[in-house]
Amino acid sequence: MAYRIAPSILSADFARLGEEVRAVAAAGADLVHFDVMDNHYVPNLTIGPLVCAALRPHVKLPLDVHLMVRPVDRLVPDFAKAGANIITFHPEASEHIDRTIALIREHGCKPGLVLNPATPLSFLDHTLEKLDVVLLMSVNPGFGGQQFIRSVLPKIAEARRRIDALGREIWLEVDGGIKTDNIAEVARAGADTFVAGSAIFGSKDYAATLRAMRERLAVL
Ligand code: DX5
Ligand code: ZN
Repeated sequence: MAYRIAPSILSADFARLGEEVRAVAAAGADLVHFDVMDNHYVPNLTIGPLVCAALRPHVKLPLDVHLMVRPVDRLVPDFAKAGANIITFHPEASEHIDRTIALIREHGCKPGLVLNPATPLSFLDHTLEKLDVVLLMSVNPGFGGQQFIRSVLPKIAEARRRIDALGREIWLEVDGGIKTDNIAEVARAGADTFVAGSAIFGSKDYAATLRAMRERLAVL
């Protein structure tokens, strides 16, 4: 199993964002997770396409843009132009889920659907075959540094079964409350891609934290 770790820049020092993404890239990150919040779909306000475009020249890693915005479609072309590689969105925030998935792909990005802790997997029923990423939230979206919600573990296992049954490459990403101490448990449940914000950017040595996480994954 190839595991990927995606540091979420939500917990980075926003006054030194370029330096921060270069630092996690040098520390061995696989992706950069970019949280977009609109004070509407979620009760917080973060960064948009301008910041994405400003960061793009600083890092070669794929940019994993997690849209927590409503409406969704208006921002897709802007993020594609700003250099996003993956664009994920919440089905509750889109008027037409299938159209949004197609729009992301038409703009040359990989589409992903994000399911909140209480959002059922049935949203994958008619969409999974069109997705490159399924992102399961293990906290309610809006803030970094929240506690991992354990009831998402069986949901990860069920999502893994659905992806394997389909037999095409779809990443199963989990976001929220992931630390060195629980990353192996999340991987055992079936995830292959791990978002970690506060655990990485809140640590003194990003490389040491990423190494510790990979060590926990290596023994699985
Ligand atoms: C929460 C965001 C997450 C957040 C995770 O709404 O989607 O990506 O940065 O932060 P931690 O890893 O601190 O829970
Ligand atoms: Zn996120």
